[in-house]
Amino acid sequence: MMTLSTRRGLVVTVAALAAVATAQSTCDLVESRTSIESHKRFQIEYTSEQSEYWSTGCGSLKPSCILMPTTTQEVAAIVSILAANNESFAIKSGGHNPNNYFASIDGGPLISTKKLDQVILDPVTETVRVGPGNRWDDVSGALDGSGYTAVGGRIGNVGVGGYMLGGGLSFMSTEYGWAANSVLEFELVLANASVVTVTESNHPDLFLALKGGGNNFGIVTSYLLQAYPQGDVWGGNLIFDATPEVSKAMLAAVRDFTENYDDEKAGIIVTAERTLATLVDLWVIFLYYNGPEPPTGVFDKFFDISKFKINTCKTQSMHSLLSGNNWAVVKGSVYTIGTETLPLPNEANGVEVMQKIFDHWVDVSNTAQLIPGLIASIAFQPLPKRLAQVARAKGGDMIDVDDDIDRIVLELDYSFLSNLSDAKVDKTMQDTYGGFKTIIEDYQDSGLLPKDVYLPLFQNDCYYPQDYFGRLKPEKLALARRVQAEVDPDGFWKTRTGGFKIPSAY
Ligand SMILES: Cc1cc2nc3c(=O)[nH]c(=O)nc-3n(C[C@H](O)[C@H](O)[C@H](O)COP(=O)(O)OP(=O)(O)OC[C@H]3O[C@@H](n4cnc5c(N)ncnc54)[C@H](O)[C@@H]3O)c2cc1C
Ligand SMILES: *[C@@H]1O[C@H](CO)[C@@H](O)[C@H](O)[C@H]1NC(C)=O
Ligand SMILES: *[C@@H]1O[C@H](CO)[C@@H](O)[C@H](O)[C@H]1NC(C)=O
Ligand SMILES: *[C@@H]1O[C@H](CO)[C@@H](O)[C@H](O)[C@H]1NC(C)=O
Repeated sequence: MMTLSTRRGLVVTVAALAAVATAQSTCDLVESRTSIESHKRFQIEYTSEQSEYWSTGCGSLKPSCILMPTTTQEVAAIVSILAANNESFAIKSGGHNPNNYFASIDGGPLISTKKLDQVILDPVTETVRVGPGNRWDDVSGALDGSGYTAVGGRIGNVGVGGYMLGGGLSFMSTEYGWAANSVLEFELVLANASVVTVTESNHPDLFLALKGGGNNFGIVTSYLLQAYPQGDVWGGNLIFDATPEVSKAMLAAVRDFTENYDDEKAGIIVTAERTLATLVDLWVIFLYYNGPEPPTGVFDKFFDISKFKINTCKTQSMHSLLSGNNWAVVKGSVYTIGTETLPLPNEANGVEVMQKIFDHWVDVSNTAQLIPGLIASIAFQPLPKRLAQVARAKGGDMIDVDDDIDRIVLELDYSFLSNLSDAKVDKTMQDTYGGFKTIIEDYQDSGLLPKDVYLPLFQNDCYYPQDYFGRLKPEKLALARRVQAEVDPDGFWKTRTGGFKIPSAY
């Protein structure tokens, strides 16, 4: 049994409320017994916070109140009240996770971390303390001109809280690892409402479990991050019409880039987008280089592809790049997200395998053509060996990816107008990533893809039924279970709030 250093205080006072808590709702108790900010339906802050979801599916779920704690102690007080009743609740940072009930709730309290929004740089220790209520453009904005950066999201609007607990894939990941690999300290409110400062030296297992373990261990109220020296960067977007020739060249370019990723300062997301009603098919590429100009060679294969319609790449600050990428966040639709991990085919097999993956996506998305407003997108995200090496060198994480092979994280999104289409899109999504898995397994059997390799799912891109924890290495799953038994013996986070859950051992 581990011992945790706890900060006493509200825990004790609020425990006295436990007796009455069973009878009253969390919202009523917080409102009558504390001064914690709470907003009810039809109030301005409630409505505005409900619009801060990427997916309108999440925004249409109506919490009974939205609590906006401003300190760790207030979060602990809310947890104390929750611990004394049986209400479901949700924890929300940026609201970018589109899975319903992960950061959203119908009829229970929503804890918004919005006001836990500090960004404090300490140039002496080269660290930055970041509250989970920030978005990545808030963080880059606060650090703008300081000469430092934090490893975070590639699109500014994404939240810090959930992103970090899912590992976090950054433009800087090949240089510095998953975003979570740069966390030095977590401030965490446990299920029993005590507050712990979790570091590698004081709670090594919990520290590791939080790096890719989601919301299974507590509410993080601040992250202490390693800060890295940063000057101007280069980046932006290239947009192409997705003709068959362009698609072929693009698939070859992203495969090649992943295999020969010898400049760790380069980052890329290669996406294809299909607007099915108007049959507009595009390739949209997000480029990044940690320096004012990329050296020749790094992105040549992309620039060599016929003619692009748009090129916004330029030298700029990190803040400008991340805010500039916010055009990609289009509100007003229901979104779904899903993923599969592709072991990188070698050059000889690359043409066939990459095209097969792409064609499967096109074929399945065609079956959804009649769904009102349907937009299908796929992202090819390099996960090169070098990322695995850096992640391990920085102390590791739950994902624990090895450098045996290069990989591509395939991310799928389907967006559409109305939740009336939920069931149809659900099937489309599962058919798409399910088909990828079958294609990968068939190529492994026929020798076109490497066999017996570790293919974890990337949590931040997982669809709610995907088995994130089940796809981890058995020893990491065991670690998650052990830590859960220590810090959440009664299954408070497991049973009371949504998110990817650790499956029980049999
Ligand atoms: C446009 C867009 C771009 C994206 N780009 C990237 C990218 O570049 N890299 C990447 O890795 N991912 C990316 N994602 C995926 C994103 O990281 C996940 O959707 C992530 O879950 C969203 O984080 P959030 O902080 O907004 O979380 P929310 O949606 O608010 O929450 C997600 C989950 O985390 C939990 N959670 C949130 N805050 C806390 C906390 N303080 N303590 C405990 N639990 C908490 C919630 O309960 C919920 O289960 C992107 C998503 C979108 C929509
Ligand atoms: C669908 O959305 C409507 C309005 O936005 C909402 O009232 C309803 O509860 C939603 N239904 C589901 C199943 O999410
Ligand atoms: C708490 O709620 C769950 C599900 O809503 C229910 O199964 C359980 O019996 C409840 N427990 C108590 C003590 O009310
Ligand atoms: C809270 O839980 C932790 C982890 O189980 C434990 O170490 C700590 O003693 C508990 N604190 C209190 C006040 O019960």
